Amino acid sequence: AIPVITIDGPTASGKGTVAHRVADRLGFHYLDSGALYRLTALSALRHATPINDEHALAKLAAGLPCSFAGEHVYLGKEDVSHAIRAEDVGNTASRIAALPAVRHALVKLQLGFRKPPGLVADGRDMGTVIFPSAQLKVFLTASVQARAERRYKQLIDKGFAANMAGLLQDLTERDARDANRAIAPLKPAEDACLLDTSEMNADEAVEQVLQWYAA
Ligand code: CDP
Repeated sequence: AIPVITIDGPTASGKGTVAHRVADRLGFHYLDSGALYRLTALSALRHATPINDEHALAKLAAGLPCSFAGEHVYLGKEDVSHAIRAEDVGNTASRIAALPAVRHALVKLQLGFRKPPGLVADGRDMGTVIFPSAQLKVFLTASVQARAERRYKQLIDKGFAANMAGLLQDLTERDARDANRAIAPLKPAEDACLLDTSEMNADEAVEQVLQWYAA
């Protein structure tokens, strides 16, 4: 079977950075499943699709003209790598991710990323729903404070405005939404390895994941 490593965890836990580097080190493909929810959110915002119109949103998700090239994400021909990182897009993504029809519409697209020589998949339900037979499942966490600081730095680095108080509130709300939704709630897979990165930098987290994978 084509090997898969899943890295799930709450918002701003550093999953993206760690997953990307693990994929690079192993020469594996990389799936940023959150980007698919963000792309759906961006399309919805642009089409002014109401975020409670499950049917219309699922249709947008099923027909996403998206492609990935390295760090770049495209919607049609447009490079939306920057646009999908905006906080309002992330917020909308987290709301529409609670809709079953939207999640179903994105399953096939996600499964298609499993190609030789292997895949590192990052998200909320990679180990629990999408790739339950993954060779290694990691659940990455960090304290709310550490995550808010990371998200703050990330937004500022990308040229977005940000304030800590607002981010802390936003993170807390998003965590609650992800954990309490009826479909694919955020939780570690039963056979997941837990990694708390509050006091750890990305390199240390990458080494730990690689060590688990080699074991
Ligand atoms: O930046 P952040 O970690 O919050 O989000 P992301 O990984 O880019 O994903 C955006 C949103 O999509 C998250 O807030 C989740 O609610 C949702 N998501 C999901 O439900 N399932 C996934 N596999 C990935 C993301």
